[in-house]
Amino acid sequence: MDKKKVNISISIKDIKLSSCIMNASGAICTTEKELNDLLKSSSGAIVTKSCTFFPRKGNVKPRYFYCEYGSINSMGLPNLGIDFYLDFLEKNKTEKPIFLSISGLSIEENCFLLKKASLSSKVTAVELNLSCPNILGEEEIIGYDFYKLSYFLKEIFKFYKKPLGLKLPPYFKEIHIKNVAIILNQFPIYFVTCINSIPNGIFVNSTTESVVIYPKKGFGGIGGLSIKPFALANIRLFHLYLRKEISIIGCGGITNGVDIFEHILCGASAVQVGTQFIEEGISIFDRLKKELISILEKKNYSSIDNFKGNLKDLV
Ligand code: SIN
Repeated sequence: MDKKKVNISISIKDIKLSSCIMNASGAICTTEKELNDLLKSSSGAIVTKSCTFFPRKGNVKPRYFYCEYGSINSMGLPNLGIDFYLDFLEKNKTEKPIFLSISGLSIEENCFLLKKASLSSKVTAVELNLSCPNILGEEEIIGYDFYKLSYFLKEIFKFYKKPLGLKLPPYFKEIHIKNVAIILNQFPIYFVTCINSIPNGIFVNSTTESVVIYPKKGFGGIGGLSIKPFALANIRLFHLYLRKEISIIGCGGITNGVDIFEHILCGASAVQVGTQFIEEGISIFDRLKKELISILEKKNYSSIDNFKGNLKDLV
């Protein structure tokens, strides 16, 4: 039997991505060189490092650590400021969708950044980061405060008319995801990205008998392989509770094509790669694309829609 031709392009409403695989915000997407490398790569879109109004140096180093079961970070939003990212986009012509990640330190700053971003024709969508766990002495994670989340979205959609996605923190109870979905379903949101790193983990170095990163006495956001089950569970439940017009971008624990297949089976339309991209570099997009296409060929699926969200229960 002839193999079907496999197509891993997807659409998020009117935004078309030639591949469903992209970088996660924060992973090698801060500087001009890093963004240029992403522009040239086979990723389906580019997500910029979450930016603030003023450039930030971020937290004291060491602030990232990797081992075989995942990563811990407390970067503290080091970024070059929104004007740098908007200028970069003005200078560079590309067909690739650009998701400008923003993470203001207050609701007011976020509103200001959204107004600025909406003036640029080069920003395809904003990915509003409501889930950074690493800011010392600033506001708590907005994604965990449902009243604030609801108030904030009402304020945003009074003036913001362009495509908007939300980067969400991980939730650990079904009722929380159901309640967040009830809030999000009221707004013309394009996509949610779930999940950001799991807050307040600790890695221990048993040789030195110490923590491995400096900020927050070693507490940080956990990413990579060990968080995949939590990412899959969040995707699965948001797929159940969100309006079908809101797409899900899966993020968490992707190291190979099988991981991507699992994210899509749970309901993701696209995926982001963070820790493994940091460890492997820009060639990862070619490898993951090849691996995903090979899985789809073996299973005789011709597109992402053939299996998206079709995870079966055991009967
Ligand atoms: C950071 O810069 O601290 C990480 C950003 C995030 O996890 O949202």
